[in-house]
Formats: sequence, structure tokens, C-alpha cells
Amino acid sequence: MKSINKIALSLLAVTTLAFSHGDVNPQPVETKGLEKIADDVIVNPLRENAIAIEIGKSAYNTNCARCHGLGAISGGVAPDLRALDAADDDIDEYFINKVKDGAVRNGNVYMPPFKEVLSPEAIWSIRSWIETLPTDDL
Ligand code: HEC
Repeated sequence: MKSINKIALSLLAVTTLAFSHGDVNPQPVETKGLEKIADDVIVNPLRENAIAIEIGKSAYNTNCARCHGLGAISGGVAPDLRALDAADDDIDEYFINKVKDGAVRNGNVYMPPFKEVLSPEAIWSIRSWIETLPTDDL
């Protein structure tokens, strides 16, 4: 009985650890306070928007941090998103398309697609937040 309890406890610990870096599946994001943004917008309309930056920070934490790192400081699992040029229209387009489609090659999901779960407002908020982060340690 005692050892079974031990096994159950360590299983619980493993499960808790596995999930402690955030949710495994894409999580919807509340974007109250932001105007709706059309799906075909490819230049960040929320740059330097204070409400968006707040929303983006928390949306990043629930959806991206487990791979791209806490505070968007990459631990090596996935690229450091601060390295993407800020305020660059071409990178804006690359960013939104990447987040919508994810990265799937030969049936391997390196990054899940987010287009069914995150609105353009949520994705542009994440980009706006990342752009506020220091890059001097890159
Ligand atoms: C399951 C892990 C995982 C999650 C969750 C994840 N990503 Fe990624 N992401 C990756 C990996 C791995 C790559 C590199 C893909 C490749 O090899 O093509 C990547 C690539 C990217 C790129 C391209 C970076 C570059 O330098 O070219 C962007 C932008 C990006 N992710 C944004 C996000 C955002 C924003 C979120 C949250 C909404 C997110 N990712 C969630 C793993 C993840």
C-alpha cells in the first residue's frame, strides 16, 4: 500500500511538472478593450498600444512561453522571438502567418497552428508586447 501511494505521488509530481509551463493546447484570449481587426491585416495595427501590450503579455504566457521561454527569453527549445526585427512591416506579415499556421513538417508539429483559437487582436497584441522587451542580451 505504501509503495503504491509513492508511485501515485510521483506520477502526480510528473504531471504537475509537465503542465507547469503553461497550457498544452492553444488557449483563447480575452481581448476586451481592443477594436476588432480584419483577418487580412498584415501590418501590426496595435504597435505601442498600452492595452494590447498588457493583453499580449498574458496571452504570450498562456500560449507561447512553454516553448519560446518565460519573458520571451528563449531557453533553446524554440527561436527567441525578440530577435525578430521590431516595427518591420515584412516581419509583421511573417509573424502573423507563422502564428496562424504554426510549424508542421513531415507530420511533426514543432509549433501548433493558432488560427482557430487566437484572434488577430490577440496575435498582434503578442507581437506588440514582444516589441517592448529589451534585446541587449541577444
Ligand atoms: C510547442 C512549442 C511551441 C509553441 C507553444 C509555440 N511555438 Fe512558436 N515556434 C516553435 C518552434 C519549434 C519554432 C521553430 C519552427 C521551425 O523549426 O520551423 C517556432 C517558430 C515561431 C516563429 C518564427 C520564429 C523565427 O525566428 O523565424 C514565431 C514568430 C513563433 N514561433 C511565434 C509563436 C507565438 C507567438 C506563440 C504563441 C502564440 C508560439 N510561437 C507558440 C515552437 C512553439
